[in-house]
Parts: sequence; C-alpha cells; structure tokens
Amino acid sequence: MTLSSAPGKVYLFGEHAVVYGEPAVPCAIELRARVEANRRDDGKLRVHAEDLTLDGFTVEYGGRTDERPDVDVSESLVSAAMGYVDEAIEQVRDVTGEDDVGFDVTIESDIPLGAGLGSSAAVVVAAIDAATRELGVTLEVDELAERAYRTEYEVQDGQASRADTFCSATGGAVRVEGDDCRSIDAPDLPIVIGFDGGAGDTGKLVAGVRDVREEYGFAADTVEAIGDVVRTGEDVLAEGDLEELGRLMDFNHGLLSALGVSSRSLDAMVWAARDAGAYGAKLTGAGGGGCIVALDPTSETETALSFTPGCEDTFRAELAEEGVKRLA
Ligand code: MEV
Repeated sequence: MTLSSAPGKVYLFGEHAVVYGEPAVPCAIELRARVEANRRDDGKLRVHAEDLTLDGFTVEYGGRTDERPDVDVSESLVSAAMGYVDEAIEQVRDVTGEDDVGFDVTIESDIPLGAGLGSSAAVVVAAIDAATRELGVTLEVDELAERAYRTEYEVQDGQASRADTFCSATGGAVRVEGDDCRSIDAPDLPIVIGFDGGAGDTGKLVAGVRDVREEYGFAADTVEAIGDVVRTGEDVLAEGDLEELGRLMDFNHGLLSALGVSSRSLDAMVWAARDAGAYGAKLTGAGGGGCIVALDPTSETETALSFTPGCEDTFRAELAEEGVKRLA
C-alpha cells in the first residue's frame, strides 16, 4: 500500500489567460487530497472516493473500458472524478511500462470538486505519485507534474495549462507561462476563501472563453490584459505590497467577469469581501460557481461572507509550502 497527498490551490492571478500562453500565479493551500493505491493483478480499477461534496461512492470496472457504473450521484460528478483517475492510471501504466496492471484506489479529499481550488489536479498528482510508488517507481517532482499535466490535457480535450498540476506537485507559490514553470517567493498572505457550495464545469468554461476570444478582438485583448495584470502583480507580490496586490486582484476579477466566467454568487461574495475592507477579491479557478479568494488580515471578510446570501462556507487558507507528500 502506498499513500500520497497533494494540495489544492488558489489563483492570485491569471486563470483562463494562462491557457493562451499568458503567465499565471497560483499558490498551493493547505487543503489536501489523499490517495491510497494498492496493486491488483487482474487489471481492474476500483475507485472509492469521498470529499466534501460527495458522500462517497465506489466504482469498479475492468481494464481500460468505458463502462460507467450505476451509482447514486450525478453522472457529471462521477465522470469528472473517474475521468481524471482513469487517465492518471493510464499515465502510470505508460511511465512504468506495466500495461496491464490494475489498482484499488481510495481518494479522500478536503477540496470540493470543481470549485476552483484545484481538486482534480491534487487528486491526479497524488494518484500518479501513489500508484507509481506502489509499482516501485518514484518519479522526480518535475516528471510527476508533467504526467499530471498530460492527464488534465487528455481529460480536458487539449485545453489545460500546466498551472494547477505544477502548483500542486511542487507546493508554494508558482509562476507558469506556457511550459516555463517555476517556484517564486511569496510573503505571508492573509487568504480568505468564500465558497458558494457549487461547482463550475472547467471544460465548458474554458471553451466559452475560447469562443468569445475567437469572436471578438476585444475579448482577445481582455485575455492579454489579464497577462499584463499578472506581470504587474508578480512584481508587487515580490515587494509584499498587499494593498496593491488586492487592487490588481480586483482588476483581474473584472476582466474574468467580462469574459463571462463569473456568476451572481461569485460576484456577491467578491463585493461582500470588498465592502468588508478586504485588500481585494476575485474568483479563483475556472469560475461559473465555486470559490472566491480575498486578502484580509482581519476577521471582517470572513464575518461578512458568513452573512452573505449564496455563500455556504468561508475559511482562512494557509500557503502549503510542500507539494506532494509521500505518507506511506
Ligand atoms: C482551472 O483551474 C484553471 C484554468 O486556467 C484552466 C487551466 O489552466 O487548465 C481555467
């Protein structure tokens, strides 16, 4: 038996635009997905998954078939969870050369699915790490990040950046621009999360941005403007000027909203945070629903969010210095 964990993340800047080669700055946070892997010699894959948004389900299917199990949760949640695990195991078979190996995989996650906190990247990183080690192969962190990226790329029909997976594998704050991925220094950030209890469909939201970007020159300019915000933001992050950082996060949210990836509840939480005196606030991740990230060293934003209609949960998040953890 092997057990690995990997952290979720928030985007300080740059989601969506990063898919088009602009830079992005995600930060790993101390919410983790833990994946246990046990080898099976019959080639089957059995997955048991539990997280904040799933009561828990178990599916079992043979080899690499497309069989979908009959379970009592929405098809899209099962497909989301299974699609990533299925492809992660493909990457494990490929990198180890053990084409016919199967696994019992148990996933336990603190990260809500599809809520912008990097649940799929964390599950994929931890699953590849645990399953390869179960076969006696320990991947370098860069190779692990690359295999996790390929997993997301396959599942998201070729529309994925390296940002989520690199951040989850390495931990800390990172800067990703195309295939240039690096760790960067970040000051202690007073991160507050607001969660509307919902989820967005990353594939659809990414496709929506692609469509408006192709249709309107000004939407393409908006994507480039996000890149400009990120380039300014990374200097400000290095200086540790939280007030200016917040202002740029506000800009970033406005541009994402113009691209059509915000929602009423995300906007309501962003405004509640700003009104409460946060340095700044923005949606994080693909959008459509899920989470916002705000910067506030006081308790005001958390209090305001807890009274905001549409906000289901609010909490502080610590930067996760460590990415993948090899626990057993
Ligand atoms: C999703 O967490 C982040 C997006 O930028 C997609 C990606 O980078 O793969 C929307």
